[in-house]
Amino acid sequence: MTKIEKIVLSYSGGLDTSIILKWLQETYGCEVVTFTADLGQGEELEPARAKAEMAGVKDIRIVDLREEFVSDFVFPMLRANALYEGQYLLGSSIARPLIAKHLVGIAREVGADAVAHGATGKGNDQIRFELAVNALDPSIKVIAPWRQWNIRSRMQLLEYAEKHHIPVPSDKRGEAPFSIDANLLHTSTEGKSLENPAEVAPDHVYQRTVDPLDAPDAPEIITIGFERGDPVSVNGKSMTPAALLTEFNELGGRHSVGRLDLVENRFIGMKSRGIYETPGGTILLAAHRGIESITLDRAAAHLKDEIMPRYAELIYNGFWFAPEREMLQALIDHSQAFVSGEVTLRLYKGSASVISRASPCSLYSADLVTFEESAIAFDHHDAEGFIRLNGLRLRSWAARNGR
Ligand code: ARG
Repeated sequence: MTKIEKIVLSYSGGLDTSIILKWLQETYGCEVVTFTADLGQGEELEPARAKAEMAGVKDIRIVDLREEFVSDFVFPMLRANALYEGQYLLGSSIARPLIAKHLVGIAREVGADAVAHGATGKGNDQIRFELAVNALDPSIKVIAPWRQWNIRSRMQLLEYAEKHHIPVPSDKRGEAPFSIDANLLHTSTEGKSLENPAEVAPDHVYQRTVDPLDAPDAPEIITIGFERGDPVSVNGKSMTPAALLTEFNELGGRHSVGRLDLVENRFIGMKSRGIYETPGGTILLAAHRGIESITLDRAAAHLKDEIMPRYAELIYNGFWFAPEREMLQALIDHSQAFVSGEVTLRLYKGSASVISRASPCSLYSADLVTFEESAIAFDHHDAEGFIRLNGLRLRSWAARNGR
């Protein structure tokens, strides 16, 4: 085994990473620095400090990354209207490069030669962490205990905890919990009964959205302000990126917006079924498409839609810090120069529908499109020639086919 001098561990304070912490200390016999990121997962982070202290960690980092997460990762991604396989808003995928960036930053600061994470060998997250570390600092090694140790099951994990006096919460002794990943953008739930895609997900997997049947009978109308492709206000009130997303999560959660039950294709090769809740992100995607609909030129909008699946797949597969993602981002960001204005939506029993949009940079012309008499010169005979020329090849083709 390669000699490691110092490790920075991505540490949640939960059972898995507590065990990983102990395992790293024992296996490598070196100092482990813990890094706990506040991504808006809605969990107390101070217990993580206490647990790390108990495990003898001297250098404990707990960092609030909510604003950076939303302004430098979530919003740039939303500018692209990114969806993986047509539906997934990439809530876990987009958080990994940010965590990796800080792991690398801390490693450099404290002179660590390795970073470690608690992602398993079957998932996408290991790939995302490690590709990001590769791209940011090739000299830093990555330790993935789940791929190295001989713990193969939840039972063995609990035995290891018991043997090393790591406290196991009583609810973790019985049935295995769902695998949950939460942050300001989404909550993702996988595992247990969800592993059978033919089985309906139990109600209790949903954590931040109410059942549509219990959502209020009265719709709620909200107005979102955009500047250059990013949301900046709600109902006329300006807020920071993280505060805005928090607000949209609350609004969406109350109206059951953003639930998704999905079977997706993991990069590593297998299909997996998960439940996603992305209330604020779902509202923002609809609103962003709404403001783009009046401010983007047709060809610009269609080009964005063509590259979107490619861009989303790059993020899903862990290539956030790759040159091709940055190139696509430059194109997307350039397209947003005039994507400013206001969009009004109605939230109602699971839906977030755009009901009006307005912009000082609008390309929409009522005068041009109107069915009524209009001041703008539009020669209807031009349309005749337009259709005749577009139909030229179709007429040749049909004649050849003998129609
Ligand atoms: N399948 C999702 C993705 O790869 C979520 C992964 C993490 N979620 C979890 N519940 N462990 O982006």
